Amino acid sequence: MALGFDTSRRALLYSTTSATRNDNWDAILCYTVDMTYQGVLSRYGHLLDLPPHTSASAVTLLEGDTPLIRADNLARQLDGGFELFIKYEGSNPTGSFKDRGMTAAISEASGREAKTVICASTGNTAASAAAYAARAGMKAIVLIPQGKVAAGKLAGAVAYGAQVIQIDGSFDDALSMVVEITDKHPIALVNSINPYRIEGQKTAAFEICDVLESAPDWLCLPVGNAGNITAYWAGFKQYNQLKSTGLPQILGVQAAGAAPLVLGHAIQSPETVATAIRIGKPARGEQALQAADESKGRIIAVTDEEILNMQKLLAELEGIWVEPASAAGLAWLALDSAAREVQSKGKRIVAVCTGHGLKDPDIITRDMPKPQVVPPKLAALEEIILGN
Ligand code: F0G
Repeated sequence: MALGFDTSRRALLYSTTSATRNDNWDAILCYTVDMTYQGVLSRYGHLLDLPPHTSASAVTLLEGDTPLIRADNLARQLDGGFELFIKYEGSNPTGSFKDRGMTAAISEASGREAKTVICASTGNTAASAAAYAARAGMKAIVLIPQGKVAAGKLAGAVAYGAQVIQIDGSFDDALSMVVEITDKHPIALVNSINPYRIEGQKTAAFEICDVLESAPDWLCLPVGNAGNITAYWAGFKQYNQLKSTGLPQILGVQAAGAAPLVLGHAIQSPETVATAIRIGKPARGEQALQAADESKGRIIAVTDEEILNMQKLLAELEGIWVEPASAAGLAWLALDSAAREVQSKGKRIVAVCTGHGLKDPDIITRDMPKPQVVPPKLAALEEIILGN
């Protein structure tokens, strides 16, 4: 049974179903399936600028519909007098926000019968492209910077059956190469320079407005290649036009060792513990600056130490474990109010946490003390727990 975002098909499903739903299991199944969530294209496809052939071959893993979690403990600890929500994108099917754009890009490529897709990636795009390509029966090729991709991301790309190629260079080198090769050969490019990726990623802004019934005052998020900040701003603007949901100020955060948009020039050898955003020449840099400017927001940088401190704080105070890059947006809120240069008191802030902590377990385990070993005796356990 195809479950695209074709509304006439949905209507047909409903009518068949209501006539027979008490008579057989098939009909009951139809009814049940049609009532459940079917992914971002199904929910928001009518608001996305996608070619008609995209809906004919929708490839979905039921991405999106991610939780918007109140973070009162963290807000209290940061003591800025603001209301804080985490948009937890790590709960997407492959563990990052990339799935929102990938369902659109892969469905579009599949609809025009592309056989192979390619991307450059710091890891999450690779895993997402590989998963959606697998589901569509397409080949995925992913180019990653040698030795700089977190274990959970590389493992994902391999598990989903992609051809993984390491480049002895940076993400920026890899991106130039995929642009060149797709200009020359019939291979579909699924990086966020592909406009359909941006269309899909706009859905996160729609979801936030739907849940809060308006845009927040501030939206903060990490910035790497700058596709996501571009998509959020486009999404908020579109929803505001349609539903008068208002506009947030956008705060984009880069890592200090990879902050071309803050420094105002490209960086040859970006370095940061947040490998997802280890990017020196963002493809959508101009649009990121425009989003910050138009929204009366800013693009700032935080240090690796600030990122890792925030990663730990979020996990320990809220039970939300994110990969380092995902903590960058929030790290802004831990700066003292002078450094923050923003009046946050009384404001509603949404922080986008872009990827799951499981993507990069090494960052936690490499410095961790080995858990204690005790003999399997109650007395030994009591001694350790109660100290008697
Ligand atoms: N957070 C995570 C976890 C990411 O993986 C990325 C980008 C970003 C933030 C930044 O998003 O590039 O749209 O500004 N990861 C890309 C990748 C580059 O290849 O997975 P952006």
